[in-house]
Amino acid sequence: MSENNDFDALVGEIEGAIQKDEKEIYTEKTLEEAYNPKNVGELKEPSAVGKVTGPCGDTIQIHLKVEGDIISDCKFITDGCGPSIASGSVVTELVKGKTIEEASKLTADDVLAILGDLPADNLHCPVLAINTLKAALEDYRNTRSFRNQSISE
Ligand code: FES
Repeated sequence: MSENNDFDALVGEIEGAIQKDEKEIYTEKTLEEAYNPKNVGELKEPSAVGKVTGPCGDTIQIHLKVEGDIISDCKFITDGCGPSIASGSVVTELVKGKTIEEASKLTADDVLAILGDLPADNLHCPVLAINTLKAALEDYRNTRSFRNQSISE
């Protein structure tokens, strides 16, 4: 066997072991959302932006597009762990089509309910995603009140 084949076989073995470990730790839904996240990226002209770094040092950014009072689009990016990717993905799916009021009532438990639980070490990941959503909603409220102020002046 050539050196390249040995290396490829070793990489394959390691990947297989990692996937096996992941399946023992995370739910199928978490792995699906982490490996195939929805709504990744940035919006061209977001109505609001939230960017929060958690105590673990990972950052999530959320862009919202608001039309009327409805969140019509939402995108996220993160430099964080798999569960933070999964949580960001779920949050973006949850907020689309909701009013600002409805979106502000979402909690980390709503995200956890969809992911089907996480290990204790990752419970802060959906919290970070929800805190980022709250920062974006706050940004929207501030921008909107600034806009209303400018119109009335
Ligand atoms: Fe930091 Fe998951 S470990 S968000």
